[in-house]
Amino acid sequence: MQKKEIVVSGIRSTGYLHLGNYFGAIHNYVKMQEDYQCYFFVADYHSLTTHPDPKDLKANVFRVAAENIASGLDPDKVALYAQSDIPEIPELYLMLNMLAYKGELEKVPTFKDKVRLNPDNVNAGLLTYPVLMAADILIHNAVKVPVGKDQEQHLEMARNFAQRFNSRYGEVFAEPHVFRFDENTVKIMSLDGNGKMSKSENVNATIYLNDDADTIGKKIMKAKTDSGPTEPNSDMPDYIRNIFQLMQLVSAASTYDTYLGAYNNCSIRYGDMKKQLAEDMAAFVQPIRERAADLQQDEDRLRKILKEGAEKARESASKTIAMARKAIGIHYY
Ligand code: TYM
Repeated sequence: MQKKEIVVSGIRSTGYLHLGNYFGAIHNYVKMQEDYQCYFFVADYHSLTTHPDPKDLKANVFRVAAENIASGLDPDKVALYAQSDIPEIPELYLMLNMLAYKGELEKVPTFKDKVRLNPDNVNAGLLTYPVLMAADILIHNAVKVPVGKDQEQHLEMARNFAQRFNSRYGEVFAEPHVFRFDENTVKIMSLDGNGKMSKSENVNATIYLNDDADTIGKKIMKAKTDSGPTEPNSDMPDYIRNIFQLMQLVSAASTYDTYLGAYNNCSIRYGDMKKQLAEDMAAFVQPIRERAADLQQDEDRLRKILKEGAEKARESASKTIAMARKAIGIHYY
């Protein structure tokens, strides 16, 4: 039997998952789970950069796991685990830190954003965030990493660290690459037209997998629109394209075509379109929300899933770390 290609991806446990996480990441995980050897994890160590309250940590991790499963991830087909259950990851992180340079880490746009937003909490974990992320990926020798646009630069760094390690110590790591099925979903914009949907910013313009129909309706009805096009077949402003994109993702193709036709012949009524989108979005999110809520009630089941996931992940991680130690020269006894 041909060996399956290895896939790794993770989601930070910093808040409720949203449509960006769903379409940018989880939807691809679900599509990959049959044909690849998949390792998907909750990045709880990464969440520590912002010092979450210890009493919230477990619920956050279990919720992200539940939301992944509720979205269609099958823990029997993939390894689903908490990052902190794999001690080989921080060990590799330490090794890679010796090959990561302050100057390159300071230049990373996500680091610069965090410094701007939280100037009082510029900790070393934040600076070395991409190194930990590289360790997450390289520990399984993954070649494909399904992520949204915002993570591309981190992937490039993971490739650099892999190359640097290999050229210094000999071939241990494969080079990981971003993977996606659909370029349209790499960046789901927020409903107010300002930036992307996010776990912690733009909360009123982000649709969460945990939102009920009423909340979804209110958010969508407030989405930014304008008085409509005046010339047939006009280009769409970004915020209108975003509404069409969301409709394409959750509504019937015929509904989408009808509104696109109305846009192109200048007869579109955004109020009607948003009402339709709100209805279709609520119908799309509802089963995910309900399944996630049920799963979160069943803590024993989630614990078992994460434990089994960690066992599968450690099997692969322990092989890689043994190779890395040996390559570096750490084999004394
Ligand atoms: P995180 O938790 O911010 O996001 C999880 C995944 O969701 C994608 N995403 C989006 N995609 C499209 N549109 C959006 N608005 C949107 N918002 C988020 C992200 O690109 C990501 O794929 N550093 C990572 C977690 C991580 C990781 C890893 C990922 C840690 N180690 C190793 C892959 C491999 C993060 O903070 O993702």
